[in-house]
Amino acid sequence: MDRVIIDCDPGIDDSLALMLALSSPELEVLGITTVSGNVPAEMGAKNARKVLQQMNRLDIPVYIGEAVPLRYEYTDAMDTHGKDGMGESFLPDAPGTFPSADAVEFLEKTLEKEQVSVIALGPMTNLARVFSKRPDLIGQVKDLISMGGSFRSHGNCSPVAEYNYWCDPDAAAVCYKLFADAGKKIEMIGLDVTRKIVLTPNIREYICRLDPETGEFIRRLTDFYMDFHWEYEKIIGCVINDPLAVAYFIDRSLCRGFDSYTEVETEGICRGQTVVDSMNFWRRKPNSHILIETDSRRFMKFFLARVMKKQDGSRWLEEELSLLDTI
Ligand code: BDR
Ligand code: CA
Repeated sequence: MDRVIIDCDPGIDDSLALMLALSSPELEVLGITTVSGNVPAEMGAKNARKVLQQMNRLDIPVYIGEAVPLRYEYTDAMDTHGKDGMGESFLPDAPGTFPSADAVEFLEKTLEKEQVSVIALGPMTNLARVFSKRPDLIGQVKDLISMGGSFRSHGNCSPVAEYNYWCDPDAAAVCYKLFADAGKKIEMIGLDVTRKIVLTPNIREYICRLDPETGEFIRRLTDFYMDFHWEYEKIIGCVINDPLAVAYFIDRSLCRGFDSYTEVETEGICRGQTVVDSMNFWRRKPNSHILIETDSRRFMKFFLARVMKKQDGSRWLEEELSLLDTI
């Protein structure tokens, strides 16, 4: 079992990613840390606990992280994720309290003790804080998967920038630089691949038919998100970025990419852009693995086979989901 920390900003697609992680026997989620991104870190932490309650996993601690980006003013994405960050489902808070340690302390203490992997689904502020203070701990990170950036695909909050890296470009830039110094690579799951992952009304209906409880939960989260996608992108359905990062961590064959040296621009009209030296102009040692291709149908079966339960509580086999090929 891989021991992981999930750093996130739930967030509708973060919530789906958490559901996937918690339904995957390959992962042991040591803790969830939140950061201000889609919603303020404290609201994100409450949302993470709502997902934990739905998944009967309130035993997993949730640590509240950095409230604002390193330097820029904080810009949330509540226009996309709703006033509550959960698609205006307004689910009640889960019972219980938060640990007294914050996200940065938890990350630091855990990495001091053991090698763990980190799946980062929001702006990289918490990680930048930890690694700038303790660059020695980068060696303790087994794998770092970051949902963010884009290589050839256009941005989703500026012509060139993806939201997580745009929201706190300095944090992303620091992480890529520090990983370069440490001779390690960040695996970048950017918009090139996540944009291909669309949850359609038909697939959602399919989930509702096979597992009404999970289906209704997902419906409550995604109605708002689907309306947003129709209004701004004329897409029927919604792009769910974050679950692909979790799926790829479990099964590296779900995406294909290449190693490269990458920097993140922090200023001006290119704020948050990932500058990927794919042609090796700079002759720098790769500090990233950039994912550019994925099989969206395979991902969807992988996702559904895990998050949906059968009536007896067991999981679906991917081959049992052949009906998915017809919708
Ligand atoms: C990323 O930003 C957020 O809107 C999503 O949760 C995802 O992590 C996509 O750009
Ligand atoms: Ca996110």
